[in-house]
Amino acid sequence: MLPTSQKEDTMETSLEKQFSWVEKMVPYLREESPCTVVNLEVLQENLGILEKVQAQAGCKVLVALKAFAMWDTFPLMAQYLSGAAVSSPDEARLAYEMMGKEVHAYAPAYSQKDMREMVEMCDHITFNSFSQWREFRTMMTASQKRIGIRINPEHSEAEVDLYNPCARGSRLGVTLAQFKEEELGEVSGLHFHTLCEQGAEPLVRTLAAVEEKFGRWFPRLIWINMGGGHHITKPGYNRRLLVQTILDFKKRTGLEVILEPGEAVAIGTGVLVSTVLDIVENDGLIAMLDTSATAHMPDTLEMPYRPEVYGARKPGELPFSYRLGGLTCLAGDMIGARGDRGYSFNKPLNVGDKIVFLDMSHYTTVKTTTFNGVRLPSLATWWPDPAEFRLVRRFGYADFKGRLS
Ligand SMILES: Cc1ncc(COP(=O)(O)O)c(C=O)c1O
Repeated sequence: MLPTSQKEDTMETSLEKQFSWVEKMVPYLREESPCTVVNLEVLQENLGILEKVQAQAGCKVLVALKAFAMWDTFPLMAQYLSGAAVSSPDEARLAYEMMGKEVHAYAPAYSQKDMREMVEMCDHITFNSFSQWREFRTMMTASQKRIGIRINPEHSEAEVDLYNPCARGSRLGVTLAQFKEEELGEVSGLHFHTLCEQGAEPLVRTLAAVEEKFGRWFPRLIWINMGGGHHITKPGYNRRLLVQTILDFKKRTGLEVILEPGEAVAIGTGVLVSTVLDIVENDGLIAMLDTSATAHMPDTLEMPYRPEVYGARKPGELPFSYRLGGLTCLAGDMIGARGDRGYSFNKPLNVGDKIVFLDMSHYTTVKTTTFNGVRLPSLATWWPDPAEFRLVRRFGYADFKGRLS
């Protein structure tokens, strides 16, 4: 059962309201746990918003596969988006084979072997440096694919350095001081990625820095890729400003514009459902779950952040407080345990209860590992009305064995 459904006397958080569909969905899971479930209706709504931006601004919107690559949804995405942004030969191949739309690549560095594969499948390839561009120039010009250089406008908007490509000493992109006009050759576009979960206003400020520093080379280019980090589908995002900014930019510069959000495609779409396996006590109660922070939700430790749990609040806000522990032997395999140290619930937790982590589609399924031999969460989709739960993939021993030797 969902211990959290006893929440009549608790005001719903806004995220809970968004995810109220889990009440109806969880009974369909039966024994399937842990399981990531993506609500296709919400995904479609996000895609609809992105398609509208694409149409109104006259730009291309790609999905960044590094954020969300559940390929069962690629046919749906292909109906709305122009293609995929990829960072490796395997992502390129997945997009090429399973989505069948444009494939745009950028990686901090490519090997000869990577590039031989990617050049066949990608429409755009962006280099992180002029030295990499030099290395692959012969192969690239023979392929007649579009070539880009990533720039670093040295304008920081991201708050956390781990997610700030313009942090001091960043290895990502060419700074103005390192820019070599004489080496542009067949380069037809520039790429910048500077934002992280941000609104249109930081983009406006970034664009001003980009134009001031690199605008002098725009007349010899065809396109610009404004990267990801645009929280376009998040409630409150100023889409009108985004569209106007792109329209004005295009008018001013004549460049084609490409956006490659990842998170904005999948935000608000998915949950990770887990099950309580045991309750132990040490300096408070700890619910042991069949999931793991380090193996299934690494960003909660890396960033770190405290994911919201359906029906739960901060410790002490509701009568029954717990920390939530993961399955691996890592001492710190605790979910949301730093700072506020856990969660509280309206009812005591029992073995078998479901714990639902909210907003878990992006940067989770793509980052999972089988550390400790812990199985990867199953993947499923949900359509609310008429209700349809579809188990897309269950992982097992072969997946663990297959990545070792
Ligand atoms: C080059 C590039 N493009 C796009 C993205 C997608 O960003 P987001 O998922 O924040 O929209 C990233 C994320 O790190 C990135 O590095």
